[in-house]
Amino acid sequence: MILITGGNGYIGTEIAKILLKKGKEFRIMDNLSGSNPLNLLYLNQIDFFWGDIRNKEDLKVAFKDVDVVIHLAAKLPTTPGLLDKVEEVAKVVDDINYCGTLNVLEEVRRKDASLIFASTCNVYGVGENLKEDSPTKPLNPYAESKLKAEKACIEYAEKYGMDIKILRLASVYGFSPGVRFNLVVNYFILRAMLGYKLAVFGDGRNWRPFIHVHDASRAFLHLIEYGEKGEIYNAAESNLRIIDVAETVKETINPKIDIEFIKEIKPEFSYSVDSSKFFNAGFKPEFDFKSGIVHLAEKLKALEGRNFGF
Ligand SMILES: NC(=O)c1ccc[n+]([C@@H]2O[C@H](COP(=O)([O-])OP(=O)(O)OC[C@H]3O[C@@H](n4cnc5c(N)ncnc54)[C@H](O)[C@@H]3O)[C@@H](O)[C@H]2O)c1
Repeated sequence: MILITGGNGYIGTEIAKILLKKGKEFRIMDNLSGSNPLNLLYLNQIDFFWGDIRNKEDLKVAFKDVDVVIHLAAKLPTTPGLLDKVEEVAKVVDDINYCGTLNVLEEVRRKDASLIFASTCNVYGVGENLKEDSPTKPLNPYAESKLKAEKACIEYAEKYGMDIKILRLASVYGFSPGVRFNLVVNYFILRAMLGYKLAVFGDGRNWRPFIHVHDASRAFLHLIEYGEKGEIYNAAESNLRIIDVAETVKETINPKIDIEFIKEIKPEFSYSVDSSKFFNAGFKPEFDFKSGIVHLAEKLKALEGRNFGF
């Protein structure tokens, strides 16, 4: 049985969709603090446990019959104040993303299960063509909490010989049953479809790595079978400058809209990553950037005018 912590969110619902199609047994554990409970209805008849990873008793219940854990539950940088380093927010983030992961690790150890931990390329902060052993420079509490949690995962893997793998995901975009629009690419697509201009900070020449949500989900499932214990894997399909993201969205979705440069805001991070270690472990993305954005736009168009029974 696979347990997906934070499985009601953007990536978790896509993993669930794939597992449902494959007829695999899985359970979602989520406290519904950061995602829409309606996602559960779209997934329909799944094994769901309403629980919090900060609560050890909840974890004991959620782990019944579990032998593989995909650990996604986290507070993301979309939380207001997070990137501004507001102290209280940083504390909650640390509590969930780091302390919550320690609880998960302890339960994984107790059950002799395996774990795939959702980390982020955000831990690099700055640099180009970064590999898994390149220096890290977390620039916000979210990235700090994820790096601390990664270190705990590696400690557990080394100390107890546990099957733990870490996926450093690029920025995710594209359609899933729990799609969110507070992520740069999806936000640009939504604005372009509605005819609004796209705002780019600075000169837009800063780099970001990207992966489609379907491939991000496949990446977790790939690591259940492949890859080495205690290892970190970057997972990006492409590295793009933000200005190229905006231009591709404009050309593909709505050439009539403008791109506006907000010069006074300098983007905090610029990083591109090298994912060859993951590709050498047999992973192959299915979506390239352009097909991923066309796919999301098509899904949104298909929803237009649909009667939801309201
Ligand atoms: N989306 C991205 O671009 C991206 C990039 C890199 C890494 N990641 C990582 O992938 C994972 C999933 O990301 P996502 O985009 O699906 O996020 P999401 O916010 O859509 O989903 C996270 C889920 O965790 C749940 N959650 C939050 N706190 C919880 C708690 N204390 N106990 C139980 N559940 C809790 C939320 O309700 C939500 O459903 C996260 O760990 C994130 O850091 C995401």
